[in-house]
Amino acid sequence: MSAVPVILLLSGSLRAGSTNETVLRTARDVASAARVRAVLYDGLAGLPHFNPDDDTEPLPPAVAGLRAAIDAAAGILVCTPEYAGTLPGAFKNLLDWTVGGTEICDKPVAWVNAAAPGRGRGAEATLRTVLGYTGAHIVEPACVAIPVDRGAIDADGLLTDPEARRRLGSVLGLLAASGSGRP
Ligand SMILES: Cc1cc2nc3c(=O)[nH]c(=O)nc-3n(C[C@H](O)[C@H](O)[C@H](O)COP(=O)(O)O)c2cc1C
Repeated sequence: MSAVPVILLLSGSLRAGSTNETVLRTARDVASAARVRAVLYDGLAGLPHFNPDDDTEPLPPAVAGLRAAIDAAAGILVCTPEYAGTLPGAFKNLLDWTVGGTEICDKPVAWVNAAAPGRGRGAEATLRTVLGYTGAHIVEPACVAIPVDRGAIDADGLLTDPEARRRLGSVLGLLAASGSGRP
């Protein structure tokens, strides 16, 4: 029997009560039904500022941890806010740390845009540019918009909307299938 694929969930927000993290926690909640295991990365705040001088062995432990988590994943799902028309600096910093490693090369990656309709396109455009430099494989059908109203988050910090949950399960399934070489 083949192992359950792991999808790494990367939030671009450090904010307590983040809507983007809510989307990813909901993805984790529906993961078993999608026959994947979803792991929420929690090291964003602990990454050092990117410095090429430090991108050498031995890597800073937080960076080694990030790269190991990427390496162990069959795919990556990103959910990030847009700040000032682009990615939050902390999340761009995370992506900068992936450029010098090989772990993300050809790795299936997708994102969920959780912003209000018509918003967040600057963040999406930057993600596309930066992921292109990293060599990640953007899984286009798995890149979706699921606008999140803060009022739709339940007491457990999850989305209960069945359609949002169904679409997140579908995104996870597409990423896992892409990582396994299946269509
Ligand atoms: C400093 C700052 C800049 C922002 N810039 C934008 C922006 O350019 N475009 C946009 O659609 N929203 C912008 N927003 C709104 C955030 O993207 C929005 O509040 C989002 O829900 C935050 O994500 P989170 O809930 O996961 O923390 C900005 C918010 C902050 C705090």
